Amino acid sequence: MGDERVGVDRYGVMGYPVSHSRSPVIHRLFALQTQQAIQYELLQVAPAKLEQAVRQFQRTGGKGLNVTVPHKREVAKLCDQLSERASSAGAVNTLVFQDNEIFGDNTDGIGLLRDLAVNLGVTLEGASILILGAGGATRGIVGPLLEMQPVSLVIANRTVDKADAIVDRFSDQGPVSACGFDAVPADEPFDLVINATSAGVHGKTPPYPGSAVGPDTFCYDLSYGAKPTPFCQWARGMGAAHSVMGWGMLVEQAAESFHLWRGVRPNTLPVLKQISVGA
Ligand code: ATR
Repeated sequence: MGDERVGVDRYGVMGYPVSHSRSPVIHRLFALQTQQAIQYELLQVAPAKLEQAVRQFQRTGGKGLNVTVPHKREVAKLCDQLSERASSAGAVNTLVFQDNEIFGDNTDGIGLLRDLAVNLGVTLEGASILILGAGGATRGIVGPLLEMQPVSLVIANRTVDKADAIVDRFSDQGPVSACGFDAVPADEPFDLVINATSAGVHGKTPPYPGSAVGPDTFCYDLSYGAKPTPFCQWARGMGAAHSVMGWGMLVEQAAESFHLWRGVRPNTLPVLKQISVGA
């Protein structure tokens, strides 16, 4: 905070913890590129203080927020309106404050799709897709991935009940199924394997299903870091030619939020280059 310039619209990211977030840097680069006068704050807010902090940000003239772990599900309850994609995900990562109302959206799924399909050239139509993990991150990406008409989408999780619950929610939207890591179909490698667990954040590599990965499997970790994540290292070890960290999704979801707030779409590629190099 501290940078309260008159006439400059205020935005920020709320999380707990949040000090590691790259969102302020990304949005400042977008603002510079598109010549938008905004300021963007890092807001560390404990779960018990979430409602109070959101309402105060709104009351004091804030225009929009990004919301990150662990608030993405809870914050949906504070929204007066939800986009269809936020409502189907049951999770919100972007708030827009307008006319005393809170609009909640979820740009994670479209951010992932843009990175995969546009930046990385991955074909999703007809692809076999495996998602590892069944938490908030998975909820945000299943709907948009199913819209791309994959041939199958399997959600594997340590706790199978949680994967089942997501399948129940999305089964009318496409060929989605659930299982444990040890029951992933092993007939042939998947076209795309996405790590949506938070295991790597804790430095862990769970017993992921090795048979899911072959030389042509595209492996994508929603997590990112200065060094290859444990999942990316595991995927390389399994012989995957492509294992990519989620820097692109991070920048693309931010660009979607920026577009919602400012009506301008920034050019993501120079920003992606800048932040992933300076990681
Ligand atoms: P997020 O919002 O990032 O998805 P989350 O909702 O807490 O975070 O979900 C974390 C996911 O990572 C879950 O799928 C969790 O598995 P469980 O549902 O069984 O808890 C998974 N995860 C975290 N640590 C893990 C580990 N060490 N091994 C396997 N899965 C792990």
